[in-house]
Amino acid sequence: MDTMGKNVILEAIAREMQTGVLVLNGDGKALYANPFFLNSFPVEGGVELRAVGEIVKNPVLLKTVGDFMKNLGGSSEDIEINEGGRFFSVHLVPIKDRGDFKMLLFLQDITEEKKVETIKKDFVANVSHELRTPLASIKGYSETLLDGGMDDKEILKEFLRVIDRHATRMARLIDDLLTLSRLESHQMTIVSAPVDIGDLVLTTAKGFEKQARDKGITISSELPDKLFRVLGDRDRLEQVVVNLLDNAIKYTPSGGKVSVSAFISDGWVKVDIRDTGIGIPSDDIPRIFERFYRVDKARSRDLGGTGLGLAIVKHIIQVHNGRLQVESTPGKGSTFSFSIKSCP
Ligand SMILES: Nc1ncnc2c1ncn2[C@@H]1O[C@H](COP(=O)(O)OP(=O)(O)OP(=O)(O)O)[C@@H](O)[C@H]1O
Ligand SMILES: [Mg+2]
Repeated sequence: MDTMGKNVILEAIAREMQTGVLVLNGDGKALYANPFFLNSFPVEGGVELRAVGEIVKNPVLLKTVGDFMKNLGGSSEDIEINEGGRFFSVHLVPIKDRGDFKMLLFLQDITEEKKVETIKKDFVANVSHELRTPLASIKGYSETLLDGGMDDKEILKEFLRVIDRHATRMARLIDDLLTLSRLESHQMTIVSAPVDIGDLVLTTAKGFEKQARDKGITISSELPDKLFRVLGDRDRLEQVVVNLLDNAIKYTPSGGKVSVSAFISDGWVKVDIRDTGIGIPSDDIPRIFERFYRVDKARSRDLGGTGLGLAIVKHIIQVHNGRLQVESTPGKGSTFSFSIKSCP
């Protein structure tokens, strides 16, 4: 291929690539910048023969480029910078014996990777914290027992009960985490079969009658006579109703009401779980489906919650291509609704 042909190809590559490129000569002046670079570091009136300091204002990058230019015989160098709320990885390469070219600078936007990294770090910190709390109690209580506490039968029994409760909590946390991780990695097999939603809602609500009665809450369900079904995984959908009912009862004070209703409209089966409980402040509503997010951490933990229930609900509804809605007024109550396309 002739030089002209090669240049056309190289130009097309530089124009289209999702990596910024800046070429500097031996005086630290720009010879070329590709569109991606100019998008990240906008320069008015072109870059040609402008000093690097006029193009790049980032102090970390400027210093690195300056040092690099002084010592051009060296090897390439990588740094990370934060510019205008975005993160970039910068790769500097010296060019030896190539006419006027002295340095190539490659710029990659790594903002998304950074975000994922932060989410991962937060996640590990959250899990460790949630496991540490019950574990510390188990350790404390068993040490007290071993130190002589077990000689008293009453104390022994009471402490063992506490230990058992905390161990149950840890087991639940791990179960929830495994469920979430399987849902997120699409490993969970979703059995798709017709599910009678009316029947599912009725049986699940029945299972909560005792819990509601013990707390002085009335629970009622309202279902049309007509049979309606959706295509989905019965066990998973049951888990959605369980998690939503569990919340409705947990976050409703004694004397309150919880009701479940299901109906069909426009080819969608909609299930509403309504409570007259404490409600959720509107600022918190967009966040309650995040893993570990709780409006009132202390209260939720006292009630045995880990903040994973709604994250699981969200994923299950997602794999069923359904919709999820929340309406809530602090002090008045909340309604969580989900809809799934009906099947004949
Ligand atoms: N019906 C509700 N009324 C008021 N607040 C609610 C209701 N449902 C959820 N919340 C708020 O949303 C948060 C997240 O709910 P989620 O079910 O994910 O966690 P949790 O109930 O705290 O713990 P877990 O479900 O893992 O036991 C709760 O901590 C609570 O603050
Ligand atoms: Mg919950």
